[in-house]
Order: sequence, then C-alpha cells, then structure tokens
Amino acid sequence: MLAAYAARVSPDDPLSALEVGERPAPEVPAGWVRVDVRAASLNHHDVWSLRGVGLSAEQTPMILGCDAAGVDEDGRDVIVHAVVADPDAVAGDETFDPRRTLLSEKYSGTFAEHVAVPRRNLVAKPAELSFEEAACLPTAWLTAYKMLFSRSGLMPGDTVLVQGAGGGVATAAIRMAHAAGYRVWATSRSEQKRARALELGAHAVFEAGARLPARVDAVIESVGEATLEHSLRSTRPGGRVVVCGATSGRTAPLELARVFFQQIDVAGSTMGTVHQLRGLVDFLVTTGVRPVIDTTLSLGEARKGFERMAAGGMVGKIVLTV
Ligand SMILES: NC(=O)c1ccc[n+]([C@@H]2O[C@H](COP(=O)([O-])OP(=O)(O)OC[C@H]3O[C@@H](n4cnc5c(N)ncnc54)[C@H](OP(=O)(O)O)[C@@H]3O)[C@@H](O)[C@H]2O)c1
Repeated sequence: MLAAYAARVSPDDPLSALEVGERPAPEVPAGWVRVDVRAASLNHHDVWSLRGVGLSAEQTPMILGCDAAGVDEDGRDVIVHAVVADPDAVAGDETFDPRRTLLSEKYSGTFAEHVAVPRRNLVAKPAELSFEEAACLPTAWLTAYKMLFSRSGLMPGDTVLVQGAGGGVATAAIRMAHAAGYRVWATSRSEQKRARALELGAHAVFEAGARLPARVDAVIESVGEATLEHSLRSTRPGGRVVVCGATSGRTAPLELARVFFQQIDVAGSTMGTVHQLRGLVDFLVTTGVRPVIDTTLSLGEARKGFERMAAGGMVGKIVLTV
C-alpha cells in the first residue's frame, strides 16, 4: 500500500528522512480493527519523528501520522483516536498511562491506505463533518479542546491569549474559544497570520512579545521557548499558562518569582481521552465550528505538506487525502 514514512531519522534535515512509497499493510492484532483511511492530517509531531524525537532509528521504517478519518471493517465512517494505551492500565484517563503511545511511535501511523487501531480507539464520524475535517481532530483539535475546557480554568467571558496563531493547536483554540464565549487574543510574528487570526475569531491580535492592554486569565502555549516568558508576563495573578508544546525550543527559563508572587499556575497538557474526542465531535456539530484547513493534498504529495509545515507558513491544518 502507498504510505508516507520515516525511512530513517535525521535530527538536522528531517525532510531527508521522509519517503513516500510502498509499505506492507499493517498487521491487525486481536481486538484491533483495520481502517481504510480517507483523510489524514499532519502535526508537528510528524516532523519531530523525522528528527528522531520520540522515534529511534531502530524503529524505522515507520509509517508517520497520528490523525485519520476513514471507514472501518463494518463500513462505518470513523475517526481514529491517536492514543494507544495499555488496555489493562486504562481505568479513567489513558493520557496518564505511562505506557501510552501515539500512532506512528510504536505502531504504524495513518499516512497510508490502511491503519490498524484498537477497537476502543474508534469514534463515529458524524455526517456533518467531512473526512478532511474529521481528520484534523484527534491531535491538534483534541489537544486544544482539553487545554481550553479542562486545563485552563477559563469561564465564558474570560480572556485567553493564544500564542503562535498559525499552528494547528492555535487555530483550533482560537475557533473554539470564540465559540465558547471567551475573549480571544492571539499573537503571531506574521502580519498575514494576525489578519487570518482575526477572521478565525480572535477579538484582538498582537505581534509576538507585544505588551498587552491587560493581563489575561489564561494562555494557550504551544510555541515554547520563544514565547513562554511573554506568556508568564501576560497572565494575571492567579491565572494559568497551559503548555502543550515547544516548537521553538524545549528549554525556556521560568521566572520563579513571578510564578510564586503572582501565584500563576503552569499546567502541562497532552492530547485527550477518547471520551473527550467524542465531546469535541459533539461540540463541533452543536456549534457549527469547523477545523481550519490550510492545504489539502493527496497522500502521494505528502512531501509538499511536510515542506509547508517545516517552513511554518501555514494557518491551520495540512490534510492528506487517500
Ligand atoms: N502535547 C500534545 O499532546 C501536543 C498535541 C499537539 C501539538 N503539540 C505540540 O504543540 C506544538 C504546536 O503544534 P502545531 O502542529 O499546532 O503547530 P506548529 O507547526 O508547531 O506551529 C505553531 C506556531 O509556532 C509558532 N512558532 C514557531 N517557531 C516560532 C518561533 N521561533 N518564535 C515564535 N513563534 C514560533 C508559529 O507561530 P507564528 O508564525 O504565528 O508566530 C507557528 O504558527 C508542537 O510543538 C507540537 O509538537 C503537542
């Protein structure tokens, strides 16, 4: 079957490790199901994998991709939850399972004609969402959903700052926060992306690092090193900085005096549960909010999508159709 995969890892030149070509179809263990992929979406995670972050050279060749929507063996339209947990360890929240893994880390990913996943990872795709829209949900949108509605402590009417407006997590956060009745402020280094953020639902936009007119109740932080100090400075006493990623670097200094004197919470957040993915789907159906798609390409054109993501110019998700 056709697949986009890491043939090796390359910390300094990730795209040189990407190949698009024939790979064997994945095995389907007992309790797992085969899904015929209709659409899949890229995440920065896929670029990290090519760099060898979370994927070792010994694990290659590895089919990339965490997110997919497709058709299961019974002909049902489904969305694939990307977190594969130990079935014995999962009592409440599979994201806390220390042995959890994302598709494409230990098991073959979604950038292929077929993917195998545990049956419990399937969520029904409603007719209201296209396969392309549904394929955007399992990583970036689910992460933003949990950050906003479970980890941030925000209430409708509160103000949220979204750093790095163009990313998949950031565009999801802007759209959903607007729909939930939050005041949404966003930053970007690019004037064009700031203009797009306003169209997507931000109430005000600022240059990266700019002084804000007031401190915010919470920050959605996925940029990392380049913005964390600004996130802390921009948060009101008792507010919260919710961190899910570190695209610009993982080692940011933390001004501890600000953290304790201002009593600011720094909260980590990763993915979401399959239950939260169902909640996200219902939220989109109810509100009419839809994922922001930057580019749609065929699976065979995956390299173009990776180039666009690595260059960082996109606003929203890059989708591959099969
Ligand atoms: N923990 C989890 O479960 C989880 C889930 C999803 C994503 N993530 C992580 O979250 C991060 C975001 O992922 P993504 O796929 O949404 O988007 P992304 O491709 O990583 O881009 C996010 C944004 O980062 C900003 N950015 C990049 N380098 C920057 C720099 N040097 N200075 C300032 N801003 C910079 C850009 O904003 P502007 O150009 O607009 O300034 C860009 O739009 C990634 O690190 C990813 O691994 C984690």
